[in-house]
Amino acid sequence: MAWAIIVHGGAHTIPAEKIEPHNVGCTLAVEAGVALLEKGASALEAVEAAIRVLEDDPVFNAGFGSMLNSEGDVEMDAGLMEGEHLRAGAVASIRGVRHPISVARQVMEKTEHVLLSAAGAHHFAEQQGAELCAPQSMVHEDQRRKWEASNKKRGSDTVGCVALDARGTFAAGTSTGGIMHKMPGRIGDSPLVGLGFYADNSAGACSMTGDGESIMRLALAHRIVQSMQSGADADRAAEEALAVMARRVGGEAGCIVIGRHGEIGQAHNSVHLATAWRTSEMTAAIASVKKQR
Ligand code: GLY
Repeated sequence: MAWAIIVHGGAHTIPAEKIEPHNVGCTLAVEAGVALLEKGASALEAVEAAIRVLEDDPVFNAGFGSMLNSEGDVEMDAGLMEGEHLRAGAVASIRGVRHPISVARQVMEKTEHVLLSAAGAHHFAEQQGAELCAPQSMVHEDQRRKWEASNKKRGSDTVGCVALDARGTFAAGTSTGGIMHKMPGRIGDSPLVGLGFYADNSAGACSMTGDGESIMRLALAHRIVQSMQSGADADRAAEEALAVMARRVGGEAGCIVIGRHGEIGQAHNSVHLATAWRTSEMTAAIASVKKQR
């Protein structure tokens, strides 16, 4: 059966000199997922592998290089889901781990819970032998400079991935440092099932990026998957959800989607959306920083 994978590196305004690094980073991430899908690995494994690449790349606001909260600390949110049994795992406001997405997967696989936060999430990560690090080692100098230059709350260029594997199972995941100068303890849409990500084998899967406070109030990821369940294709479901958001609560966002038949979709109302994708029909990934028309 055919497989497909798409990643995003955030919906926001990308300066000209950062476009190529976004394309390169998204391509490397999607190829990490492809390497697994080609060997018959699950969509969940591919999603985790792709997001780990993005979390390591300081071009993106996730993992190393995350935006800093009002106290100058990195606090990260991440979550993932598989669409066969609707299992999900997530961490919120976690500090001192290299790969929040991998801790989220451990939450899904090793606990009876879906979401762990802050000190409890860190303690669990330690128990599981996750890669721990000094919280300050996750701070990249560019983010420190931006934090010092302005105390305005702004963001958000979350990362995410959606995949369909050869067995027909979907998975979706999202990871972020949230927004610059957020209040300590602020949690966005990214670690919340149905808000920042959703997967259901009966319809498809979706990962969101953008203004968490807008995305959350409309449960956008679930809305998009529901809309595909009702017959919309991936692009239309994505575009309609963002139109509803703009009309009802405002805000900027973007999303990546794979529909029931493996069709790839994306939409955004931010200036740019960075993505890369590949399917089993393609010999190389396509990366694009799409500009709003
Ligand atoms: N969409 C990521 C956030 O608002 O934290």
